[in-house]
Parts: sequence; structure tokens; C-alpha cells
Amino acid sequence: MHANEKDHAWWQRGIIYQIYPRSFMDSNGDGTGDLPGITARLDYLARLGVDAIWISPIFPSPMADFGYDVANYTGVDPLFGSLDDLDQLVEAAHQRGLRVLLDYVPNHTSDAHPWFVESRSSRDNLRREWYIWRDPNPDGGPPNNWVSVFGGSAWELDPTTDQYYYHAYLREQPDLNWRSPAAHAAMLDVLRFWLDRGIDGFRIDALRQVIKDDQFRDDPLDPAWTEGQDPYLSRVHLHSTDRPELMDIVHEFRALADSYNGDRLMIGELYLPIERLIAYYGADGQGLHLPFNFHLILTAWGARRVAGLVETYEAALPVYAWPNWVLGNHDRPRVASRVGAAQARVAAMLLLTLRGTPTVYQGEEIGMHDVDIPPEMIQDPVAHSLPGLGLGRDPERTPMQWDASEFAGFSSVPPWLPLADDFATANVQSQEAEPKSMLSLYRRLIELRRATPALSVGSYRQVYVDDDLFIYARELGSRRVMVALNFSHGERALPAGVGEELRPVLSTHLDEVDRGVLRANEGLLLE
Ligand code: GLC
Repeated sequence: MHANEKDHAWWQRGIIYQIYPRSFMDSNGDGTGDLPGITARLDYLARLGVDAIWISPIFPSPMADFGYDVANYTGVDPLFGSLDDLDQLVEAAHQRGLRVLLDYVPNHTSDAHPWFVESRSSRDNLRREWYIWRDPNPDGGPPNNWVSVFGGSAWELDPTTDQYYYHAYLREQPDLNWRSPAAHAAMLDVLRFWLDRGIDGFRIDALRQVIKDDQFRDDPLDPAWTEGQDPYLSRVHLHSTDRPELMDIVHEFRALADSYNGDRLMIGELYLPIERLIAYYGADGQGLHLPFNFHLILTAWGARRVAGLVETYEAALPVYAWPNWVLGNHDRPRVASRVGAAQARVAAMLLLTLRGTPTVYQGEEIGMHDVDIPPEMIQDPVAHSLPGLGLGRDPERTPMQWDASEFAGFSSVPPWLPLADDFATANVQSQEAEPKSMLSLYRRLIELRRATPALSVGSYRQVYVDDDLFIYARELGSRRVMVALNFSHGERALPAGVGEELRPVLSTHLDEVDRGVLRANEGLLLE
């Protein structure tokens, strides 16, 4: 290991892989993925070369939001297996050098969680204050104008006690009151429970919502919003999200993680503008290790736009902050559908050669695309609550394509969501055998990143940008790697003088490289 590399933590050098457990591997033939299924596929992930897996929620849940409605934070839903299965998965992962991160959902529980069942039972129940209860407005309507991410008012009137409770997401997902000392303490115990069991860290769900304004002031209306857009965007979420008090909680999460052996990882889900996002590294880096950076998902795909984003993000990061990049997840259209199959290869090179920890969403490595879901097969409640806006998340959640057998090697029965129609050719088994496949490209890129300290921990410097090309250097000591990405569908010469002293090491086409020219949709790595 290079000296400078040793100064970096595993999660700085490493690559994270997101598993959406319902759709990764079904081991018991019920059409839904499960924990033993993940265990059975760990060798694949070790071969791919990733360092950690983050598993979306596997806790007991009525599945109104497919596990993001948790009814018990310290168990495993029978659909996914048992606590024993999870222990076995963690052990098997650790044996292969893979860390395991769980999803922590602090903002809300399921309405079936015993805490909420008690809380809603009467106004003087001891757990009443664990959730957010408010009297109706004088006119009987909701207490303020806050809207749910999933459509409609974020307030639900509960007839038992004639008060409204707050839910930033579905009405089946009541928000916890983090200003309640007892609820707060109980939720920190959840983290301890898993850290004690050997979990290597967490991805924290819906973090920006966790604390809300204690005066419940209306959110200002966004004048830029027009009818027909996502109604959540009709408000500027000034009082319902990203509150200053949230930082205290973030610091607490971090201190708790650090009280273990110093290598547990805290990642936060934060859809925020860059200047607000970086605040979550905390004062002197005592906040999150990685506030998820979703801006590659949110930025239009083009050389200037992407280069500008990287510049802005790099410039905004304080010295103690380690960057990170995400191309896709279980909530957003897949990158192959956003930018097209050809550019998805360029995107893969970008993700795996930028400075900062990359997170790969399952299936990206085989180029999976969004799947059209026939109306009768729709599962995601968002497709129903916000119809016609294309916000349903089933298309990016379809089962992993392992092989060409009847159910893609995912299951022995028809899966919970339909398979992509091209799975017989686009699958792990066929791509493993195909030297120029997307999977081969991911493996090569990951291998190179691991073997090249300039790529894993080196500095970043923009070298050149125009409408089509984005070129940057990654440097460590005297080692220099250059990445040249062609965002266009036409051939482009490398600009004069750029990279002349360097030798091409890898093309996203995975073939012989012509030094001076970038072909259509080609990314080139030079050294
Ligand atoms: C996060 C999750 C999403 C979920 C929501 C509510 O955004 O990624 O899947 O629906 O939080 O928990």
C-alpha cells in the first residue's frame, strides 16, 4: 500500500454496493428476495470487488412502503428470513472481507409499530409525545401547510383522539418526535443493538426530515412551481426539513458509531443543494462520514454540466470532508434509462474514477434499465398517490438478472415485480462470459481503482471541458491518471497537448485504443 493510502479509512478507499433485498435473490421460492439469497450471492459481490453492501430495510414491516415502514427496529421480517439468517450473512460477508451496512429509518415508524399503536390510543398515553400530534386548525383543517413527499397534506386526522399526526411520507409512516427524550433514547438504542451485533454502519433514511420546526410555521410557497409538477415541490421546505437542530442529532449518531472500534460508517440520505449537503459533515468533520451526494442523479447529463457539478462539489468540500458519488438507487430512474445504454458506460467510468467513495446500485453493473410495469402489476404506493408524474419506483426495483433461466435465476416462481424483457441476454452469467460486457467493464474499473492509489485516494483536477468532452486528472505523488470522457454520440479528437505523454490503459469499449481519438460514447483512462 502507498503511504498516503494507509492514511485512509476502508470506506474512503472502498466501494459500496446497494442491495434492494426484495429484488436481489429469492432463496425460498416465494417470488421475493431474502437474506439467505444475499448470502448465496456474496461470492459474486466479492468477485465484483466491492467493499461493503448496504441492504435496504429487512425489519418486520407491513410493507406499505416496502420495509421503509418499520414495525420493529430490532428484528427481521419473516419474508426476508430471521435474525439468525442475518447473523450468518454478516459472518459470511466478513469472511470475504465485505462489510455490511443496514438501513436506519429514524424519521418515522410504521403505524403498526407498537409505539404508535400506544401513542394513538389516547391523549394521555405515555408514548403520546413519541409522535407529532397537533390540534386541528380553528377551521378543522390540518395544523399547517406541510405536504407529504408522497402527495397530499402531511397531516392525518386520527378520529380516536381528534388530533392530527404528522407523516412526511405515507400516512402509514407516522413521524417520530425526536424532541421527545424517551423516543430519542429508544432510537439510539436501536443503533447500539445493531452495532453490538457487528453491523459495520448505517445508511440513514430521510435524514433531512428528522427534526421539524418546533413552532410548526407554514412552509413558504415556491413561486417557480407550476401545476402538473410534483406537488411536493410546491413548497420551499424551510421549516419541515434541514433544521439547524438536526446537527446535534447527527453529531450524536457519529459519536455513538465512533464509540465502537472507530471504523463504523455513517451515511445519510440527504436530497439537498450542495452547500447545505456539506454541512452534514459536521463541525470539524464530526458529523456524517458520507452525506450521500445525489447530484449526479439530479444533474442533466452533459460534459459541461457534469464537469461544473464536480468543480462545485470539490470546491465546497472542507478539508476534512471525504467526497462520495451516487449514480442511482431504488428511488430514482436507472442511469441506463436516464442517459442511454451507450452513455451508461461513460457514467460507469466517471463514477469509478472520480475522487470519493462510489455507491453502485444493484444491477447497474450489468446495465439494467427501467422496466415498464403493466398497471395491474404496480406495487409502489407512490405510483398511485402521485399518478401521471412518472414518480412510481417499481421500474428501478425489478429483480436482479442472474441468468437466462425462466425467472432469471432470481427465483423459481414469478417474481413480485416483472423481469426486464431482455434478461435472457442481459444477465450476470452471460456478461461474465462476454469480455466486452458492462459487467466486464465494471470489474476492470473496480480492479483498476483498487490497484491505483491515484484513483482511490489521489487528488482531483479538471484538465479540459467543452460541450462534448470532460477530462480530469487524478494524482498522487508522481503518479498521474487522466480520464477523458466523450459525452457525445460522435467521434472527438483529444484536444492538442492533452495527455500526450500518457498511455491509454482502458477504454469503456474494452478494446484496442486509438490514442488521439475518442470514439462516440467512449471513456478513456490514460496513465
Ligand atoms: C427514503 C427511501 C425511500 C422511502 C422513503 C421513506 O427516501 O429511500 O425508499 O420510501 O425514504 O422512508
